[in-house]
Amino acid sequence: MEGPQSPQYRITLLSGDGIGPEITAVARLLLEAVGRRHGFGLSFDEQPIGGAAIEATGEPLPASTLDACKAADAVLLAAIGSPQYDTLPRDKRPETGLLGLRAGMELFANLRPVRIMPALIDASTLKREVIEGVDLLVVRELTGGVYFGTPKGRVEADGRTRAFNTMAYSDHEIDRIARVGFELAHQRRGRLCSVDKANVLDVSQLWRERVEAIHLASFSDVALSHMYVDNAAMQLVRDPRQFDVMLTSNLFGDILSDEAAMLSGSIGMLPSASLGEQGPGLFEPIHGSAPDIAGQDKANPMAMVLSAAMLLRIGLKQEAAAADLERAVERVLAAGYRTGDLMAPGCTLLGCMAMGDRLLAAVES
Ligand code: IPM
Ligand code: MG
Repeated sequence: MEGPQSPQYRITLLSGDGIGPEITAVARLLLEAVGRRHGFGLSFDEQPIGGAAIEATGEPLPASTLDACKAADAVLLAAIGSPQYDTLPRDKRPETGLLGLRAGMELFANLRPVRIMPALIDASTLKREVIEGVDLLVVRELTGGVYFGTPKGRVEADGRTRAFNTMAYSDHEIDRIARVGFELAHQRRGRLCSVDKANVLDVSQLWRERVEAIHLASFSDVALSHMYVDNAAMQLVRDPRQFDVMLTSNLFGDILSDEAAMLSGSIGMLPSASLGEQGPGLFEPIHGSAPDIAGQDKANPMAMVLSAAMLLRIGLKQEAAAADLERAVERVLAAGYRTGDLMAPGCTLLGCMAMGDRLLAAVES
């Protein structure tokens, strides 16, 4: 129960676009419920980002939103983006708002855990014997690489159009994400696979050198291996159990984490945490805004709820409350309740809000 001495946390809520508001409503109810159970209070500050912010202010990341995020104890983001903004200039697009938020909060480390829930084994397109027991963590560098490198742009010359980006990392950027990866591998099963394209790219050559240097200097108890990204993409579907921590750059991590998500049956199940050296973390599902089902009460809120669990565990150090949310997801799935993305014969189909009610009942029972 909450008392005069109970901790109070400020959460900045960014519901964004598409299915964002629907899944945010569910996560908020559940956070309030576990706060009541575990004796802490939460206040929510809702701020616009992405398309919603473009509509409200003309900018995908208003300064007031970034300021509110920096001042919070933790930030929970649903999703951004909608096809109606795809033709806007790049600096006005929803995605630019998200990248600006990651850069502005200096969230260089993105943690994307992939665990297979027993109840969902048959929801995966992969065979049971391949995915049973998968428990891996993608550690994705989030504020560098080709997403942010310069020069970039588009030029018209001699009747031709050329567009270009730069994939660049400096040693300190690699060192700090490598340390995060090794630290987490050390806490897990002690294995780290660094994924690069060092056979072709200079930037990957430096990546590999720095990962080896950090390994040698501070983490020789972790078993380090290297893998080219094309092979890693193949190994993820061939034998995903071989992986513990996968450490990789911004673009490779973006691609591999969507692939890894499908091991779990649906991209609607995967949470993530984005962390910096200090300051609040940002917690968000790895899926997008699903504009095709927005506003129809069809979305799967579970990745958002599991992101709220990561917020509780990593952001607020409320381990018991985090475990409550994770258990609620497992129990509701085990009882056969499914959203459309996971629907299987013999299961009960629920909309987003009804799934939220089931999760709430599971937390409170
Ligand atoms: C992700 C998303 C984003 C990314 C987009 C929406 C900018 O795909 O978080 O994986 O590419 O990082
Ligand atoms: Mg992505």
